[in-house]
This record gives sequence, structure tokens and C-alpha cells, in this order.
Amino acid sequence: MITIRPATADDLLSMQTCNLMNLPENYQMKYYIYHAISWPQISQVAVDHSGRIVGYVLAKMEEDPTEEPHGHITSLAVMRNWRRLGIAEKLMTQAQKAMTESFKAKYVSLHVRKSNRAALQLYRDTLKFTVTNIEKGYYADGEDAYAMRKTLIE
Ligand SMILES: CC(C)(COP(=O)(O)OP(=O)(O)OC[C@H]1O[C@@H](n2cnc3c(N)ncnc32)[C@H](O)[C@@H]1OP(=O)(O)O)[C@@H](O)C(=O)NCCC(=O)NCCS
Repeated sequence: MITIRPATADDLLSMQTCNLMNLPENYQMKYYIYHAISWPQISQVAVDHSGRIVGYVLAKMEEDPTEEPHGHITSLAVMRNWRRLGIAEKLMTQAQKAMTESFKAKYVSLHVRKSNRAALQLYRDTLKFTVTNIEKGYYADGEDAYAMRKTLIE
């Protein structure tokens, strides 16, 4: 049984470990703490029956006061043995719900590698994000990103 719940300060090290095991984009602990302190409602974890974190979504609100309120997905990963069970979809849905309920987010944005077929299918086909831009050389290794967006409140 997997439980999806908001991430707490106690989860941050396990989230960072999960990130390091599953993605090349990694962050210092202070960046996780910044998310947890600033927007404690938004980031979510997937926890197994023994309390182990098997997936996370690290998310935030964008802070530009000249733009309408919107959320951003900083990072998402699910441990290999737990994939294709709908965990990422649930993590994303919970994060989106928290963004609208707590911060009245009008939309949510993210970046994804052009080559990341699994994530692209999740975002585009399952979660109904659309591609708004291609950002050339966005990633540290030079790969392009699709900038994607989903409207939350019309
Ligand atoms: C991308 C990732 C988060 C998906 O997690 P997941 O829990 O397996 O995803 P879900 O089970 O919620 O999948 C929902 C839908 O997304 C799509 N999808 C997920 N993984 C897929 C894959 N390997 N190939 C094709 N489509 C895939 C499918 O449409 C799937 O629905 P279905 O299983 O009914 O066909 C996971 O593969 C992962 O952690 N990858 C490494 C890290 C990463 O790339 N993160 C995203 C960075 S932008």
C-alpha cells in the first residue's frame, strides 16, 4: 500500500536520496529546505507500508509579482521498482491541488528533457500539460527542454 502525503522536514533527506538515484539534476539540501519552509503544502511524498519514501514531487510557487500566481514542478521521481503503478500521476495531482487550494495558482509549469519519453507521456497524455516552448540547451549537458504548462484555474 502506498500513501501520498505532503512532505515534511523529516522527509527531505530521503527525497534527496531518491533524486540522486533517479535523476541527473540534483540540488543542495538548502534548496529542499527552501521549498519545505516556503510552500509546505505543495511538495508530496509517496510512502510504502514500512514508511520508506519511494517517490516524491518537489514543487513551488513562482515568486514574480508581475505574473499571475503559478506553480512550478522542480523535480519528480519514482523509484524503479515502483514505477507504472500510477504513483507519479498521484503525486502530481496532489501537488496541483495544493497549489490551487493554498495559493490560487492559475497554472503549473515544468521542464522536461526532450529525450525523456516516460515523463513526456506522463505530462502530455496523462496529466494534459501542453508544450509552450523549446528551451535550447536548457540542461547542463546541453540537451534541450520542453517547457510545459497546464491551466489549473480558468
Ligand atoms: C517519469 C516517472 C516519474 C513516472 O513515474 P511512474 O510512477 O512510473 O508514472 P505513472 O505510473 O504515474 O504513469 C502514468 C502514465 O505516465 C506514462 N508513463 C509512465 N512511465 C512511462 C514509460 N516508461 N513509458 C511510457 N509512458 C510512461 C503512461 O502514460 C502512464 O500511464 P499507464 O501506466 O496507464 O500507461 C518515472 O519514470 C521516473 O521517476 N523516471 C526517472 C525520473 C524522471 O524522469 N523524472 C521526471 C523528470 S521531468
